[in-house]
Amino acid sequence: MGIISKDIGIDLGTSNIRIHMKGKGVVLSEPTVVAINKITGEVLAVGNQAKEMLGRTPENIVALRPLKSGVIADFGATKRLIQALISRVIQKSLFSKPRIVISIPSDITDVEERAVEGVAYATGAKDVYLMESVMAAAIGAGIQVEEPEGAMIIDIGGGTSEMAVLSLGGIVVSHAIRIAGEKFDKDIVEYIKQKCNVIIGETEAEEVKKQIGAATSAMTEDKVNIKGRNLSNGLPETVTITTEDVRLAILDSLNEIMKMIKLTLEQTPPELASDLMTKGIVLSGSGSQIKNLDRFISNETGMPVYLAENPSECVIRGVGMSLDNIEVLKKAIKTKKD
Ligand SMILES: Nc1ncnc2c1ncn2[C@@H]1O[C@H](COP(=O)(O)OP(=O)(O)OP(=O)(O)O)[C@@H](O)[C@H]1O
Ligand SMILES: [Mg+2]
Repeated sequence: MGIISKDIGIDLGTSNIRIHMKGKGVVLSEPTVVAINKITGEVLAVGNQAKEMLGRTPENIVALRPLKSGVIADFGATKRLIQALISRVIQKSLFSKPRIVISIPSDITDVEERAVEGVAYATGAKDVYLMESVMAAAIGAGIQVEEPEGAMIIDIGGGTSEMAVLSLGGIVVSHAIRIAGEKFDKDIVEYIKQKCNVIIGETEAEEVKKQIGAATSAMTEDKVNIKGRNLSNGLPETVTITTEDVRLAILDSLNEIMKMIKLTLEQTPPELASDLMTKGIVLSGSGSQIKNLDRFISNETGMPVYLAENPSECVIRGVGMSLDNIEVLKKAIKTKKD
């Protein structure tokens, strides 16, 4: 049997890691979490299985998120996570070393960038290509990035919100802010603590956000009951959380993201800005699925705003399309190390 070379695309997100295989599409999407035995250093679980362990581990086990705000915080754990996931999709013996395209935030430092590249080589890649995630998100959202027309993408993930205005296959203006979905969860925990003197878990807060959260006042108020712990007496207590609670809880964070969006628009050349007025702004990333976020941004900017189809997969699809089309890859890749 001949040696088959496989090309792999990776979206290494703060909350989720997604893998694309050439010719197969998105083959895997799992939480960016690793569970490790503290004594032996052995990896006990990765992805979904490890996420379930968060906050529930005995003393000798640690379940951790190896990425913080889009950058690698724990090199060893990230390497082992990627290795474990790649080995699920590729049988090692059958294939030669893969080429890996991996997305990176646009505001990443050189040191952080080298860490991503290093991790990819350490997992056994033959070549590593880095691709800016806003570019990948735009391509994956179906934006014709090569056109001589302005287009804007805003990707709201778990750890970072990134935005860019693109034209002629390049990034004209881009900004990133380390406020996104995971911060919204923390905001909800804090708000309920202040309002009800009850502490709820971040996982519960995330569920509340997904189920009833909204960025603008909704016509219909939804509510959910959540179990927490009363801070005064330490006893379990059930609190009722409404859509309006979530909106108020995340408002400051949304306004911080809004400031960045406005700055990006201010720095956009007028010709491109007028294209945006007609074509609108596209939202991607799972964090942008919060209800009415498109309306919130549209109200604030006066521009049309659309949520991309399948927003959680835009980046990985963009990475995948660049693997399938070498011309796109050559233009979009940032660096290549031989
Ligand atoms: N239906 C939903 N409504 C609101 N938020 C959601 C929904 N589904 C998922 N999220 C949030 O999306 C976030 C994860 O988004 P995503 O998977 O795009 O992030 P990531 O790519 O891992 O992170 P980053 O790009 O910041 O490094 C989480 O905070 C999650 O709570
Ligand atoms: Mg992302």
